[in-house]
Amino acid sequence: MSLLQVTNVSKRFGGLTANQDVTFTVGAGQIVGLIGPNGAGKTTLFNCVAGFYAPTEGAITLAGVNIGGLSPEACARAGVARTFQIARTFTSMTACENVMTAAMLHERHVGRARAMALEWLVFANLERFADRPAHSMTISEQRRLAVARALAIRPKILLMDEVMAGLNPSEVREAVDVVLKIRERGISCLIVEHVLEGIMPIADKIVVLDRGLKIAEGTPQQVSSDSVVISAYLGD
Ligand SMILES: Nc1ncnc2c1ncn2[C@@H]1O[C@H](COP(=O)(O)OP(=O)(O)O)[C@@H](O)[C@H]1O
Ligand SMILES: [Mg+2]
Repeated sequence: MSLLQVTNVSKRFGGLTANQDVTFTVGAGQIVGLIGPNGAGKTTLFNCVAGFYAPTEGAITLAGVNIGGLSPEACARAGVARTFQIARTFTSMTACENVMTAAMLHERHVGRARAMALEWLVFANLERFADRPAHSMTISEQRRLAVARALAIRPKILLMDEVMAGLNPSEVREAVDVVLKIRERGISCLIVEHVLEGIMPIADKIVVLDRGLKIAEGTPQQVSSDSVVISAYLGD
């Protein structure tokens, strides 16, 4: 059985259809890439899966449990974590405190929450920033901090929205390494990414959106040779 099942999901804002009849699945431990031009509806779909928007139509289940239309907190408790396209770190807090805000969802004891947060900082290769304010970190480091914070809620699936955008090649490699480590832990990843050299080599499956519609789905190899995808997205 698939972990995440998105079935015939549509999301409309008044007369604007941001997602139309989108269906796909993410298997347990899979890395799935969600690609498509700007305005295709990728972030909107993330918002539907993470409870920030209720789908106008369709169903979303996680491990067989309905999560469509639940609040962000209920989705988080069900096992969905996400990062935002604009990294929302608490810049005046230390890296450790940032991750603790999420760890405290499970652990009220401050010392134990701090120990958990430190483990995730080590995981994201950020332990040197534990006691330094987030504003002292580069964009690349802040994106990994957002990932560490999302992981601290112990998700079954992590949704990452353009965590590789604007990074240099060595920073992209570091981000890719973290994604691979997340999968090793058995956590599924659904990744919106324009940096195709980051996502294509590691994705088990790619879903392509264009103007709200799913126009293709398959292995990275299948999708990159699909003529519809090339004219909608890869060609430009
Ligand atoms: N809260 C909103 N209210 C109205 N329109 C929105 C809202 N969020 C997104 N949209 C519109 O939905 C479409 C898809 O946007 P988005 O999901 O952000 O695309 P992507 O992430 O693929 O660039 C765009 O036309 C955008 O303007
Ligand atoms: Mg977006």
